[in-house]
Amino acid sequence: MSREQLVGMTRSLVAHGEADTMELADEVVRVPASSYTDEDLFEREKRNIFRRLPLMVAPSCELPEPGDYKAMDICGVPLLLSRQKDGEIAAFLNMCTHRGNPLASGTGKASRFTCGYHGWTFRQDGDLLGVASPQDFGKVDKAAHCLKRFPVLERAGLIWVTLDPNSKLAIEDYLCGYDALLEAFGFSGWTLFAKRTLAGPNWKTAYDGYLDFYHLPVLHKDTFGADFFNRANYFTWGPHQRLASPSKFAQRTGSDEQIDLTQMSDEEIPQDALVQGVWTIFPHISIASFYGGGQRGALISQLFPGETVEESWTTQYYVMENRPETEEQVKSAHEQFDFLEVVVRDEDYATGKRQHEALQSGLMDHVLFGRNERGGQVFHQWAEKLVNASDEDLLDIFAREQRQAAE
Ligand code: FES
Ligand SMILES: [Fe+2]
Repeated sequence: MSREQLVGMTRSLVAHGEADTMELADEVVRVPASSYTDEDLFEREKRNIFRRLPLMVAPSCELPEPGDYKAMDICGVPLLLSRQKDGEIAAFLNMCTHRGNPLASGTGKASRFTCGYHGWTFRQDGDLLGVASPQDFGKVDKAAHCLKRFPVLERAGLIWVTLDPNSKLAIEDYLCGYDALLEAFGFSGWTLFAKRTLAGPNWKTAYDGYLDFYHLPVLHKDTFGADFFNRANYFTWGPHQRLASPSKFAQRTGSDEQIDLTQMSDEEIPQDALVQGVWTIFPHISIASFYGGGQRGALISQLFPGETVEESWTTQYYVMENRPETEEQVKSAHEQFDFLEVVVRDEDYATGKRQHEALQSGLMDHVLFGRNERGGQVFHQWAEKLVNASDEDLLDIFAREQRQAAE
């Protein structure tokens, strides 16, 4: 983790805050309305983005111990994550190699997986352990019938998987060095307090809302307040973006008190002040700090396209640095988490659904992203670039990002 880099970003935010300025994009950008509503494009996004690029599938603290597993379905791909005996995480295609029945569902703990259809058994590491009634079944090459593995990488207390078993794109290359910054949260030692899943509008309509602060004091006037800041500066690592408000203030951990960062030396700046704002991970993650129960916590929002172009699903994970202990702390952590459900469900996604329905009228040609909404501009440019890229292009694109980052 590069504290120096984080301090550099913070100093730049402070300087803009003092000068009452923000970094602006070069121009107002138009995005075709059809990029939200076109069903063919939506299918290609599922195939070329969600089923081809690394996705952050779980915070490590959701599977903290050997034997912990989690099954999920992403754009039609059944995925099974399993924490191995040595602590490494493995990602399998959640399909029994007999006739394809998913082996596990939900989350739990298991040292082996027994298929609920005919009873074949697999070890935690994916090896086929036993064929049911082998004397009757006939000869099976067990070594050739292990569970299929997906590329997986655990970094910064987060787990990425590529849902293409043959992907040549290294997850590390895809992250463009962003994972080293995400280390600053310290998620690997945190705990999962609660999670829930919410229905939302088209995935890009929904994701736009995580990429600007422009809407905060307007759409969220009843929750965050009408005097909430509405400016953000953006920092990018390939397609991944952090947005943070240009301000000389930061919230003091566990209180509403603001600390003045201009009065602090680089060494004095607290760690959580260095990770202020929203950290997005392309194409579908947003991470932001909260302090329910007076303790450090973060909301990790994980978005997936739904069955149709107008649906998405978001899992909200509320992770905390320490598990709240007293009844009072637990209660206020729940209040924080419930507050974030209301904000997202009743404000962001309710608006997104209305907006998407209106766009589906087909009567508007394009939408606009202002100079103060660079996050949306960058996101849509990357989404378009990556959905149209060939597999070879993908490798070139991220090799180029690596070279640029190294310069
Ligand atoms: S499908 Fe799994 S044992 Fe038959
Ligand atoms: Fe919002």
